[in-house]
Amino acid sequence: MMNKELLSKQNFPVFDAYPGLAYLDNSATQQKPRQVIEAVNRYYCEENANPLRGLYELSVKATDAYEGARTAVKGFIGAKSEKEIIFTRNASESLNLIAYSWGRENIKADDEILVAVSEHHSDLLPWQILAKQKGAVIRYLECSQSGEYTAQALRKALTPKTKLFAVAQISNVFGRLNPIKEFTDICHENKTVIVCDGAQSVPHIPVDVQELGVDFLAFSAHKMLGPMGMGVLYGKEELLEKMPPFLSGGEMIEYVTREGATYAELPHKFEAGTVNAGGAVGLKAAIDYINELGFEAIERREDELTKLAFEGMKKIPYVNIIGADDPHDHHGILTFTIEGVHPHDIAAVFDSENIAIRAGHHCAQPLHQFLGVQSTARMSLAFYNDEKDIERFVSVLGSVRRKMGYGG
Ligand code: ALA
Repeated sequence: MMNKELLSKQNFPVFDAYPGLAYLDNSATQQKPRQVIEAVNRYYCEENANPLRGLYELSVKATDAYEGARTAVKGFIGAKSEKEIIFTRNASESLNLIAYSWGRENIKADDEILVAVSEHHSDLLPWQILAKQKGAVIRYLECSQSGEYTAQALRKALTPKTKLFAVAQISNVFGRLNPIKEFTDICHENKTVIVCDGAQSVPHIPVDVQELGVDFLAFSAHKMLGPMGMGVLYGKEELLEKMPPFLSGGEMIEYVTREGATYAELPHKFEAGTVNAGGAVGLKAAIDYINELGFEAIERREDELTKLAFEGMKKIPYVNIIGADDPHDHHGILTFTIEGVHPHDIAAVFDSENIAIRAGHHCAQPLHQFLGVQSTARMSLAFYNDEKDIERFVSVLGSVRRKMGYGG
């Protein structure tokens, strides 16, 4: 297919069911192209059996489909080996896996866990729970009001007790890209493990784990054209090798006696129970779609649309954009407030015009406290949005205060 066709909404059946929908909640979840839906359908129609168990042809097919997806993910993020790719339910589960497995082994009383203040709750609560259990301390790395973190602040925040630093590559509120490679180098000089939440970056920019050097990376399939219920944890093999299992049960064992068990090799040690083979197949189809389109085209398109929206928003009085003053630093995420109007009312006005945006705290309450606001509204776009979506968004934005009873 040509790039123009791959960029088009026409590949996304949800827009046939909802004609005229301007879907601008892509950071929450992306819509699915026909190619992904058909791949999942094909798997269940033609290849379904319980993978990794059966010695018959269909189960071997299912295993190949499942493991083929792992190889695709390995290539997509530049991991060294399939052993470093663990399939989970979503980015949240991936982060919990690190906390429950690596954390239980490595964090002790008085250790410090440093968390970027803009983190999504998924990259905060597992560390809070771990810290409570171990008597460790959570500390926060503060950013500027526009969401910028500096290497200098990170250096200052790290102490000999900081065992782990948790930070998103792109915040789901600011949309700003954090300098992860630089942060990794600083963390490693301090012998601090760095956990990167890639939920909002992996769908939008090329991510290479070896180039970044991070110890762990978590992301979800559903935010990158793939199915829900499918997530990825990348971890360096030497770390994963030493970690105990997180969940236990079928398939993650080598040998079980009445007294105990030995565990399967990586990556299966971390994949207890029947796996989500359909989800893995869908994730692979999503990766194929993204690879065919290419990140250059994705980034160019999303950047153009972000700029169009940003410039339109800037012209409207009473609209306050959270984050950087340069649209290029937003990566398709434009979080905002309108003076005098509750974000839930803003979202309701948009909904009445068939435009989907998100309102609330976006699972980042400490960040909202830091910014001094209760809640915000957020539009987040993807490459399959078009100029018309953005023009409608800007036009409705300009009408919100009037509709809420303000003059002008
Ligand atoms: N993490 C998702 C969001 O930011 C749900 O909307």
